[in-house]
Amino acid sequence: MFQTKVMPCDEKGVAFAAELLKKGEVVGIPTETVYGLAASAYDPAAVSKIFAAKGRPQDNPLIVHISDLSMLNDLVSDFPPIAQKLASAFWPGPLTMILPKSERVPFEVTAGLDTVGIRMSSHPGAAAVIKACGLPLAAPSANTSGRPSPTKAKHVLYDMNGKIPLILDGGSCSVGVESTVILVKKDSVHLLRPGGVTEKDIESLGIIVTVDPAVETKLKQNAKVLSPGLKYKHYSPKAEVVIVKGSFDQFKEYVSHKTEDGVFVLVFEGEDKLVNWPAVVYGKKSDPKAQAAGLFDALREVDERGARLVYARCPDQDGVGYAVYNRLLRAAAFKVVEV
Ligand code: TXA
Ligand code: MG
Repeated sequence: MFQTKVMPCDEKGVAFAAELLKKGEVVGIPTETVYGLAASAYDPAAVSKIFAAKGRPQDNPLIVHISDLSMLNDLVSDFPPIAQKLASAFWPGPLTMILPKSERVPFEVTAGLDTVGIRMSSHPGAAAVIKACGLPLAAPSANTSGRPSPTKAKHVLYDMNGKIPLILDGGSCSVGVESTVILVKKDSVHLLRPGGVTEKDIESLGIIVTVDPAVETKLKQNAKVLSPGLKYKHYSPKAEVVIVKGSFDQFKEYVSHKTEDGVFVLVFEGEDKLVNWPAVVYGKKSDPKAQAAGLFDALREVDERGARLVYARCPDQDGVGYAVYNRLLRAAAFKVVEV
């Protein structure tokens, strides 16, 4: 098996990435949310390599990343005033807007849909790569489908070694959960995936936000979905995850009766020293941003350490905490116990 090259996300790395992308190759790139698996959004053959490397279901569309608003002309057929307002408030940043696609965007990117998700990343490395190759980049999260999203270059290497030629190492992702995904309507937006830009942030612009029921509840089989990604099991470590809702004392009492092999706990900072099970920490209880930044790394760590069953502390659901809860809920396949 060939080895995937890892280069720092500096001038030399960016130039090499741009060269590969222009030739139709797939490159792992850093963004402020999670690492992306990027290819030219205008090259259907390159885009199909992304699906192959991830093992991604063919009906799950990709997000297109831009570095400049001028790139939108070739990508969307309409950029309504509400989208302009959102773009000037939150771009570059962790917000993806679903808009009507232009003819130029291949259906390989949108999985046959006539809409396309667009995002402008605030990571200087992502922006530099897009500028250097002069192409909008289709990029899903750079994990194998179903696994926790990568927030470090080493996570991408673990999943993609031998499958792509290059990963640019731009350090740990500062946000740590994927972008907020919204469907832009005429005078409101529909939230499909919570992320770093919160419902409140959007509402502060005077925009009405409706939340898709699939954000918090398990979809029925064959249910119609607005975002295909909502159908799939996500972010899962190999271990089974169960969320335990309640105070820390109730949590401790609940897990103290567990006698299965391979039990781990996923807890907040400081709590690891107060439990008898092997513990992995995913941020401070009062700091949802730290939880977002730490969650996926923690989910990978429980696997590395051989956990079979993980009891997780439940995050508060305010602000970015809502995105943390949404990801943990999916990692747990919606298994929640209230104590
Ligand atoms: O932060 C992020 O968004 C990261 C970084 C790399 O930018 N990307 C990411 O991509 O998370 P991915 O493919 O893992 O998640 C994209 C989600 C999927 O759930 C997909 O179904 C949804 O966005 N999506 C993409 N295009 C869509 C469309 N046209 N309509 C509805 N949902 C769409
Ligand atoms: Mg993903």
